[in-house]
Amino acid sequence: MPRLNNLYFWFSACLSYTRGSLASPTSDHFHGSTPYMTCATWTLPVAATADNVIFDVPHVDSDIDVPDYVWYEDTWSTPNLAARTRSTLHVDDTFGINVQLCMPTLDTKGKRQILQIATPGFGFDKRYWDVEVESDKYSYVRAAVKAGYSILTYDRLGTGLSDKPDAYNIVQAPLQVEILKSLTILARNGELTKAAEPHFAGGLAVSNFTKFVHIGHSFGSTVTNALQAQYPELSDGAIQTGWLVSEHLGTFGQAAFGYQYARQNDPIKFNDRGSGYIVTGTKNSFQQLFLAKALLDPKMLNYGNSIKQPGTVGEGAPTGPIIGIPAIDFKGPLQIFMGEHDFPICDGDCKGVYNVTELKKSSFPKASALEVYIQPGTGHGCALHKNATAGYQVMFDFLDSNGL
Ligand SMILES: *[C@@H]1O[C@H](CO)[C@@H](O)[C@H](O)[C@H]1NC(C)=O
Ligand SMILES: *[C@@H]1O[C@H](CO)[C@@H](O)[C@H](O)[C@H]1NC(C)=O
Ligand SMILES: *[C@@H]1O[C@H](CO)[C@@H](O)[C@H](O)[C@H]1NC(C)=O
Repeated sequence: MPRLNNLYFWFSACLSYTRGSLASPTSDHFHGSTPYMTCATWTLPVAATADNVIFDVPHVDSDIDVPDYVWYEDTWSTPNLAARTRSTLHVDDTFGINVQLCMPTLDTKGKRQILQIATPGFGFDKRYWDVEVESDKYSYVRAAVKAGYSILTYDRLGTGLSDKPDAYNIVQAPLQVEILKSLTILARNGELTKAAEPHFAGGLAVSNFTKFVHIGHSFGSTVTNALQAQYPELSDGAIQTGWLVSEHLGTFGQAAFGYQYARQNDPIKFNDRGSGYIVTGTKNSFQQLFLAKALLDPKMLNYGNSIKQPGTVGEGAPTGPIIGIPAIDFKGPLQIFMGEHDFPICDGDCKGVYNVTELKKSSFPKASALEVYIQPGTGHGCALHKNATAGYQVMFDFLDSNGL
């Protein structure tokens, strides 16, 4: 695969590990600190090893290649991933991951040592968790810090300000799980605190974190669930939003994403995306996937569409093996938080598609608590709907009632 390797090295060479900037207190529209919250953003080198796969899939190098890719993925007679896997690819590398760490300025709730680690879903980077428009109504980061928690958000590999390596063989689900694992270990062994200290000038001591809660959105929840399945001892509690395994999962197929080739969709914003980076193309397809109109302020549609991120062809198919793997040894509490009208996950209606008793038995037998919560009127992109903050309170109440 000489062409792919060249691309990969080209990307690596073009990226540095120092693009993060220091947050400082400013207006509502600034992504960062407030009087009650202190934040820093920087790029953290994260070492990870993973067994990815090399698999057959049509390449996407322009818009005209996209339907061919979508047809291939959605056609009933296309061989399954196992049948089109050529080999495994052992990845062992260090990636620049752009992170944001926010802590309550005063530890009035006594929870600053509980670190939430939030993984965004397909189509988003960490801004999903820290909406910059009317932040007090929409930002999960602000709500979490007001509830007393510290929170680490990050750009998944291939998004935002993180590295954007080869979209077929490198940016795949198994590696995303290992990056979350590495970030969690850095946080658990104090290295995150050490790395953060130079970025928190001004006298606020960075906490030594003692408890770790993982939260995900959509594909980020899949990654989170895989962490709890494979490394259950690393997670003290979890919230999976926009992710529920049922007979309705995935019935919508790849066609519903309305993909375009990322670099053609926005040659300026996505000028560092190469072959295999694809994005939900129009504002319409973005809305169809993520937003329920009844609780939608049109300015959130514009905002969401303006921050959308490409994903990769490699995240498409090789996500299969990590979907819904049972977290047999996960012992913490887990809340599954769904928008009532989640189109991609529940085929438009999450009510009655699950059975908690069954779910517990099959997937989380040792979880100390398991709850499925349906947020009324909301679509797949929970954080972009009116009433988001009331939903966040439901999550914090769940964690609090379970000792976190
Ligand atoms: C974190 O732990 C280190 C080493 O034990 C200690 O020096 C530091 O004061 C602690 N920081 C806080 C904020 O408690
Ligand atoms: C949920 O699953 C349990 C255990 O299999 C079963 O006993 C129960 O009847 C189911 N509940 C519903 C509403 O189907
Ligand atoms: C807002 O969310 C809360 C928490 O889920 C819920 O109790 C309430 O009914 C919601 N309000 C509306 C108008 O949907």
